[in-house]
Amino acid sequence: MKHFVLLALTVASFVHGRVWNDTGVGAIVFEEAWTTAELVGTVGAAPAIGETIAELRANLVDIHNHRLAQMDEFGIDFMVLSCAQPCVQGVSDPETAAAMAVNLNNILADLISNNTLRFGAFAALSMHNASVAAQELNRAVNELGFLGALVNDYQQSGPNDDTLLYYDQPEYDEFWQMVTDLDVPVYFHPRTNVQLLSSLIYSHGFGLKGPAQEFAATLSTHILGLCTNGVFDRFPALKIIVGHLGERLPSDLFRTDEQLLRQVPLGIPMQRNASSYWLTNLYETTAGNFATPLLQFHKSQIGLDRIMHSIDYPFALISEGQEWVNSLTDVLTSEELLGLKRGTAIKILKLDD
Ligand SMILES: *[C@@H]1O[C@H](CO)[C@@H](O)[C@H](O)[C@H]1NC(C)=O
Ligand SMILES: *[C@@H]1O[C@H](CO)[C@@H](O)[C@H](O)[C@H]1NC(C)=O
Ligand SMILES: *[C@@H]1O[C@H](CO)[C@@H](O)[C@H](O)[C@H]1NC(C)=O
Ligand SMILES: *[C@@H]1O[C@H](CO)[C@@H](O)[C@H](O)[C@H]1NC(C)=O
Repeated sequence: MKHFVLLALTVASFVHGRVWNDTGVGAIVFEEAWTTAELVGTVGAAPAIGETIAELRANLVDIHNHRLAQMDEFGIDFMVLSCAQPCVQGVSDPETAAAMAVNLNNILADLISNNTLRFGAFAALSMHNASVAAQELNRAVNELGFLGALVNDYQQSGPNDDTLLYYDQPEYDEFWQMVTDLDVPVYFHPRTNVQLLSSLIYSHGFGLKGPAQEFAATLSTHILGLCTNGVFDRFPALKIIVGHLGERLPSDLFRTDEQLLRQVPLGIPMQRNASSYWLTNLYETTAGNFATPLLQFHKSQIGLDRIMHSIDYPFALISEGQEWVNSLTDVLTSEELLGLKRGTAIKILKLDD
């Protein structure tokens, strides 16, 4: 009986607007990883200090137990789940990748279907083919009630995993058209590099792979590619979200702008400077980068209304992220803090539409 009522609520929510656990003050977070027991061994990342790899893996596959208890304890109203990296972007065969995306989206929709008050989802997508990606996004949003998509950086491809597909090329316009038609955000999350790049770039420095250096270095290049190749000029309504305080990009806008503007006469397709896209198309989250002075600097660069809170659970702890964000009463007004924790996210994710 209870099951029946919840299902009815879920179906009704797509027609009449989403019903979610809106306490008026709790956080909304959405760089939050989940995976299946089958894939959990492919997720390369170090656990938080004090946690074991076994605990990290248990937290990745869990939704309704420890994760939800932590959300209750630390004041998170709503969490958007997505498939932990590299997920589909780590599958070089196009047919396998496309089937995997459909399967994962169905599994996740089913797992959260009895608690859509607390959980939403971003679609996993095979990015080998823009048309296939667009159709699966459409299905995930319109049939499964997903809130957008999360891609784990470039799509690897080729028989030796040696072809990297970046979504800043004209072939992807068909995908970006669907994204803007649906008016949903796409989250750009980092991935562990393919072996070829990893051994060329990081064999000299153990520990530089992953979040310490590799993630931001690789993903920021992809984001700047979207800028320089004119994707935002062609799709002015496109909303892209970048985690970890923007993978360092808003920390370096002076030099990026200055150097890119020198290349405009050489024919790069970009019609504006890179920093201006942070005012119209790009958003960042605080996920895994709980640095107060940096947040204040980014506020001065792109404005607080481009910045949203997130955790990066389970790679960062819910307690850590929530204790940090609640400490920002020292530097933000209560109105600003509510915007960071939830107000902007409610608009971007269209939770109240
Ligand atoms: C709503 O979220 C709060 C945390 O912000 C939690 O304490 C409360 O139990 C939640 N209510 C429901 C019905 O899930
Ligand atoms: C949803 O289903 C899961 C798995 O059966 C269960 O652990 C959880 O308590 C359920 N949640 C609700 C709100 O019924
Ligand atoms: C992409 O997928 C579509 C639809 O399945 C197909 O018609 C098209 O040929 C594919 N494009 C490429 C480059 O494989
Ligand atoms: C970037 O463009 C914006 C408006 O589009 C302008 O206000 C700003 O001065 C430009 N910055 C640089 C460094 O050119």
